[in-house]
Amino acid sequence: MKEITYAWNFQRMQDAVSRLKDASVLILGDIMLDEYLFGDADRISPEAPIPVVHVQETKTLVGGAGNVARNVRSLGGAVRLIGLCGRDEKGLLLESLIREGGIDACLHRSEARPTTVKTRILARQQQMLRVDRETCQPIRGKELDRLLELLAEALPGQSVLIVSDYNKGLVSHELMEKLRQLCARQARPPRILVDPKVPNFAYYSGVDLLTPNALETSQGAGLPVGTPEEILKAGRALFQRLHCRHLLTTLGAQGMAVFRSAEEIWHIPTFAREVYDVTGAGDTVIAVTALALAAGLDLLDACLLANYAAGIVVGEVGAATVEPDALRESMRSLPNPQVVRWA
Ligand SMILES: Nc1ncnc2c1ncn2[C@@H]1O[C@H](COP(=O)(O)OP(=O)(O)OP(=O)(O)O)[C@@H](O)[C@H]1O
Ligand SMILES: [Mg+2]
Repeated sequence: MKEITYAWNFQRMQDAVSRLKDASVLILGDIMLDEYLFGDADRISPEAPIPVVHVQETKTLVGGAGNVARNVRSLGGAVRLIGLCGRDEKGLLLESLIREGGIDACLHRSEARPTTVKTRILARQQQMLRVDRETCQPIRGKELDRLLELLAEALPGQSVLIVSDYNKGLVSHELMEKLRQLCARQARPPRILVDPKVPNFAYYSGVDLLTPNALETSQGAGLPVGTPEEILKAGRALFQRLHCRHLLTTLGAQGMAVFRSAEEIWHIPTFAREVYDVTGAGDTVIAVTALALAAGLDLLDACLLANYAAGIVVGEVGAATVEPDALRESMRSLPNPQVVRWA
């Protein structure tokens, strides 16, 4: 008989949070620098009809796969981060920020590409301009070999590998193919979790868990996702297309749909809250789910924790992270979630 309610257990979840610090994950992905320039815009430039921002404060954060790593660290988990940056000044800055964040990183410093940098200029909480410096050329040849070498060295003993794809050239058909082979060769093959980007869907076949948002699910499946029925259909189409083991479709304010398989699908709701900035919610979701799986939690419990954590970060400005106490407090203060089976 089909079980229709989920056995939520407050104490089990509280204990689970404490176990996260003993777990570790390996992350491979596109790493970038997020620069923020904050200031006032009180006058119009004499040079062109545009505002002049007088910068009062700057902030630089590690973004992309690096932000996934930050999310693992803030929950106390161990993390190994593999990726690449340029052989430039920003690359040095990126490396030092990663080190300061307590993240164990192996970065290949490329001669051929710059460090990916996104600069946001804000005045009075309002984003005025974003400036991107990046190359999205695929990584091939010796550079790809080097990354795979770093991965092979880091894999032994890891139970979960996150691939954080920001479509900056790191993830390719060849990389995913070799990554699957390397994982399969481990005495205990790690689970492979992928935060996907639409143009690369074809490369993710056979992975353990994909974490697309609703739009990515729709585009990956070529189907609409306006209603729960449509989400089920689109998710199932992704199973058919990619032969993945599980699927987690994030639904913004609607929470998430957790496909334990193409047949068993659960819905986790969110609690209405004031949203300041959804940036980085997806990074939090995959980081927490992965760390929780590495700590031995079942998929649905892992996703529940991730849903609480993402609910906290969307209430903060910038790509935020969550600490264990905040996660426990969030569970304590919110009503029990109504997790229901959709199929
Ligand atoms: N308005 C909201 N209220 C509460 N929680 C939210 C809200 N929006 C998003 N979340 C949480 O964040 C998770 C991820 O959100 P979303 O589906 O927007 O991810 P995303 O589009 O991948 O984000 P990103 O911009 O980081 O890539 C949701 O599953 C939910 O847990
Ligand atoms: Mg996302």
